Formats: sequence, C-alpha cells, structure tokens
Amino acid sequence: IIPIGGADMPVVVSMLNSYSGWAAAAMGFTLGNTAMIITGALVGSSGAILSYIMCRAMNRSFISVIAGGFGADAEAGAGGGAKEQRPWKPGSADDAAFLMSQAENVIIVPGYGMAVAQAQHALREMADQLKKEGVNVKYAIHPVAGRMPGHMNVLLAEANVPYDEVFELEDINGEFAQADVAFVIGANDVTNPAAKTDKTSPIYGMPILDVANAKTVLFVKRSMGGVGYAGVDNDVFYMDQTMMLLGDAKKMADDIVKALSGSGH
Ligand code: TAP
Repeated sequence: IIPIGGADMPVVVSMLNSYSGWAAAAMGFTLGNTAMIITGALVGSSGAILSYIMCRAMNRSFISVIAGGFGADAEAGAGGGAKEQRPWKPGSADDAAFLMSQAENVIIVPGYGMAVAQAQHALREMADQLKKEGVNVKYAIHPVAGRMPGHMNVLLAEANVPYDEVFELEDINGEFAQADVAFVIGANDVTNPAAKTDKTSPIYGMPILDVANAKTVLFVKRSMGGVGYAGVDNDVFYMDQTMMLLGDAKKMADDIVKALSGSGH
C-alpha cells in the first residue's frame, strides 16, 4: 500500500478489511468452523462492496486505486508544463454577504476544506442569517466530497443543519441554473468541469456539481495555488461570474456572519 495516495486510504482501509474477512473465512474452512466461514464471508463481502461503491463514485477502477497511479496525469490534466497565470476576481466577506443577502436562491457546496477548517457550525450560522432575510438556502452534497463516504452529511448533521435542506447530486444539480449564488466552501474537484470536457484529466468521467451554471459563484479556499485531491486546476476559478474568497473556510464563514448581522444587509 506504500504507493497509494493518502486520500485513497478510505478505499484501502475498506479493502484490507475485506481481505481480513476472506482470510477468516478461509481459516473457517481449514478448521471446519461454520460460524467463522459465515462471519468471514460477511466481513469480506461488505468491505468489497464498500470499496466498489467508493471507486464507482470517483469513477475510478479498483485496480487504479490499488496500483496507486492516481494523479500521475495531473500535469496533463492541468494543461501541462508551467501553470499559466490567468485573471481571477478576488472578493471579501463583505462582498459575499452583500451578494448572498440580495439573492433569492443560494446553494452551498461543501467539500474537504470545510472539514479541515471545521467550518460547519459557522456555515450553519451563515445559512440561518440568510434564511432570516428570506433567502432560500440549500446544500448540495457530492457523493465523494471530503475523504470518506458521507463525510459532509455527518459534519452538517453535527452542526444541526436540517436534513430537508441537504440534497444529493442527482436531486439538486438541475437547480444551479436557477440559483443566484453557488457558495463553494472547501470543495474543488467535485465542481471541476474538466471532469466533463478534458479527456486527459485524472477526474474525467466523474459526475460533478454544475456550480458554473449559477449566476454567481463564490469560491472559498486558502490560496490560488492550492489544488484538490486530484491535483488539477479548476476553470471555474477564472470564470467571469466567479469571485474568489481566499482564506480559511471557518474564518471566512465567521466573517460573513459578522458582515450579515453587523451591517443589516
Ligand atoms: P478537494 O478537491 O480535495 O479540494 C479541497 C479544497 O479545499 C482545496 O481546493 C483546498 O484549497 C481547500 N482547502 C483545504 N483546506 C482549507 C481550509 N482550511 N479552508 C478553506 N479551504 C481549504 O475536495 P472535494 O471537492 O471535497 O473533493 C474530494 C476529492 O477527494 C475528490 O477528488 C474525491 O475523488 C477524493 N476522494 C474522496 C473520497 C470520499 S469517499 N469522499 C475518498 C477518497 C478520495 P487550498 O489548499 O487553496 O485551501
């Protein structure tokens, strides 16, 4: 498992778990112990099914995870060679507060960075403020956002985000076209249109959340240089309707809450 990338570990752990089950089942045959055969087979098959589900959601073959080749084509996917400088629009917490308070529909897209920053509580407060102002707020969850299945759902539930505001990719993707703001906080790969358009991209074929269809995209991340798990650049950063809110996800969400409550937008 040494060559396997750090973030593939959830798949590897579940695969090793599966192997331990099959080993126990084999031992059961050797010892003539039926209980061991049955429990081993259950552990083995459930681990194998979970590994398969995770690989399918990332649109990657099981073999490519085990072979550890992920990201090897990142340079090609990013356009190859030195990264060109492209223009992008910076924004502040005040800008974001103003834009969202004027919006009718806001869709929040959380990702791995929200988990790292533990920004879920501040994010819920932000949504509460917006709802008070009559904004319709929903959360869009990609099946592989974060680093574990259900990662975002668990964090949002911990912050008491109501379940009926949280939607799976297939249920909400069509709504980005009607959204005034897509607020992407700590997500990257799961919004990258290269997954649809660039055959050389390591994420080619993965379904994505169509945030680029929203009127305005607000992107919270710490720097323009930082990439997501797949290590590729994201064209959404450079689109006309995108405003980059650079900073730690928790601090940015806190600052937006302050701006929303302070100035009475
Ligand atoms: P990523 O594409 O990994 O992007 C995370 C983003 O968060 C980065 O752009 C990073 O940019 C930003 N970030 C990191 N720390 C931050 C902080 N403290 N504050 C603000 N931003 C921060 O995340 P994603 O969109 O959730 O995609 C998940 C990826 O993981 C997919 O490629 C998926 O295939 C892979 N994966 C998922 C799973 C499961 S089952 N969920 C398992 C294995 C692999 P900066 O560094 O610039 O801040």
